[in-house]
Amino acid sequence: MDYQDSSSPLRAHSQHYASQSNDEDDDEIESRHSGQNNDFSQADYFVEAERTYNNASWVYRLPADHEEVVRQDRLHYILLSLLPGLYRGPGVALDYGSRRWPNFSLRSIASGLVGLVYMGQMADETDITPLQHDSQFRNCTFMQVNAPAGLRTLGGNSFDVVNIRQMLHATDEYPSMVKEAHRLLRTGGILLVHEPQLQLHSAWEGYSLEDLAPCLAQMIGHLRAAYQYRGIDTELFSKMDQVLVEAGFDADGIDVYYHYRQACSEDPHSEVGMNEVLNAISFLYAARLMILETGVIDEDGFDQLMPGISDEVSGRSRGIAGPLGAQGMLSPWGYWWVIKGHE
Ligand SMILES: C[S@@+](CC[C@H](N)C(=O)[O-])C[C@H]1O[C@@H](n2cnc3c(N)ncnc32)[C@H](O)[C@@H]1O
Repeated sequence: MDYQDSSSPLRAHSQHYASQSNDEDDDEIESRHSGQNNDFSQADYFVEAERTYNNASWVYRLPADHEEVVRQDRLHYILLSLLPGLYRGPGVALDYGSRRWPNFSLRSIASGLVGLVYMGQMADETDITPLQHDSQFRNCTFMQVNAPAGLRTLGGNSFDVVNIRQMLHATDEYPSMVKEAHRLLRTGGILLVHEPQLQLHSAWEGYSLEDLAPCLAQMIGHLRAAYQYRGIDTELFSKMDQVLVEAGFDADGIDVYYHYRQACSEDPHSEVGMNEVLNAISFLYAARLMILETGVIDEDGFDQLMPGISDEVSGRSRGIAGPLGAQGMLSPWGYWWVIKGHE
């Protein structure tokens, strides 16, 4: 993929933000980023640098617009190709929701299924954003619910399946959300949790993250600071079993599978590789406001890091570990299956 090309995602994003910066003076940008604009805070949605965000949650500060839906879809295809065993059959059905994968059979996972609830699903079921609710399915009802508090309106012991995916960085009330999942499930019901660790690790002995991909390492540090600023517990991934047990699940009913994603795919020119590059860049642009609001970096600093990151995830790192250094940067993900036993 050639990032000098005029259709390159980085070029498109840079032009997008450059045109914004030219229009605004710095003071105005500063005041909007510090969240002091009451007009925006009164609205259900607000627009910042041509991206739309919702006001339902201050913690989840990623856009709620079509560009973000496209990114989430791209990520689904990446995960599908990385986890073929998990996403065929019932797994695929339950993880992805109906709009994207219409051929699933909910009944394949548990006979007599009465319902399922997805938490924070971009397209379906419960979410704070009524985005992309463009398909009607017999088994699915869309509700705008701010989890965990809003879930209390749903009856206990009334769901066969609860799916929580990519919510670790969305809420500062994750353990309470898992407690709600436990309450909602009937005995024998299944909780699926699929989350990234929110950390990168070096798999190349003797090389630090900075050696592998210096710009990305810096940005990931800013991102973690942004999560922590919003009260997100960035250590929860390694305590997931404890979170599940404290929510009421039996330790014996928990199964977990870990998988890893590389910051730069083995073959950046393959379809998945190109999707990974696009996803990395568009994710960081999606997180731009969240990072800027933290104050750890300013707009210029953010924009200066992005070309280097684009090179690194495309296999052209200038780090001392060599151009493919970002292949040695791993992002762990965990997939937990949990069965609710008798109380
Ligand atoms: C990273 S996306 C994950 C979407 C989907 N679960 C997936 O894996 O493709 C997080 C989603 O959670 C939603 N969200 C964030 N905070 C929420 C909350 N407190 N209650 C319900 N949904 C929330 C957002 O609107 C967004 O759609």
